Amino acid sequence: MNLILLGPPGVGKGTQAKLLIDRFGIPQISTGDILRAAVKELTPMGAKAKGYMDSGALVPDEVVIGIVEERLAQEDCQKGFILDGFPRTVPQADALGQVLSGMGKSIDHVVSLSVDKEELLTRLTGRRACANCGAGYHVDFAPSKVAGVCDACSGQLVQREDDKEETILNRLSVYEAQTAPLIAYYQAAGVLRSVDGLGTVEAVQGDILAAIRA
Ligand code: AP5
Repeated sequence: MNLILLGPPGVGKGTQAKLLIDRFGIPQISTGDILRAAVKELTPMGAKAKGYMDSGALVPDEVVIGIVEERLAQEDCQKGFILDGFPRTVPQADALGQVLSGMGKSIDHVVSLSVDKEELLTRLTGRRACANCGAGYHVDFAPSKVAGVCDACSGQLVQREDDKEETILNRLSVYEAQTAPLIAYYQAAGVLRSVDGLGTVEAVQGDILAAIRA
């Protein structure tokens, strides 16, 4: 199964992708995670991406298209993949279509998740991740047992640089201007499945599975 999770920052793409990995045994390809790792490792690509990410802007198309093309060619993607945070522009979607077509593949489902802006702000400002193992938390919806400490490895929980309110607002504007047009793009292609992202993580997962099966 070749799947795209589409939706604004904080809608739950990463959370849902992790559950789908366990269910289907296919990898999650998160361009955000790959870029953050490059920033942390101080690679040339990370140095180029950092300024864009810190301000909430998109990293240039050619950088992310190259990342995804390389990742899709790897062995673990041959039985399927979950794209999380890619594509984010029409040129990225066109490039993805060409890369997949060259591999004799196509996208089966684009799951478009949505919740209102107030909920997005609550989810993003309260999100925390372990600086050591990367496990995800939310201060209200998925808190750790001890505040600020990871349940799994006792690492310190930190807030993402781009989860400050001003940057979040910019990310939401960028989403509306550059990524939301992909909803119509994939609707026209006949692969769009719209799912309400409001509800418990488990309920949203159930709705995603139902949308895919339908
Ligand atoms: P990226 O990392 O992709 O961030 P994003 O798309 O902004 O999405 P998020 O990771 O913020 O949100 P999410 O939908 O995954 O939500 P989550 O599951 O964590 O991109 C970051 C940056 O990298 C971009 O701004 C850009 O600069 C660059 N970039 C990345 N890809 C790019 C591309 N293709 N082109 C160009 N630039 C690119 O959930 C959020 C919180 O809500 C969590 O705390 C979670 O616990 C909680 N939560 C989740 N579901 C629920 C629920 N049902 N109920 C209650 N709480 C919930």
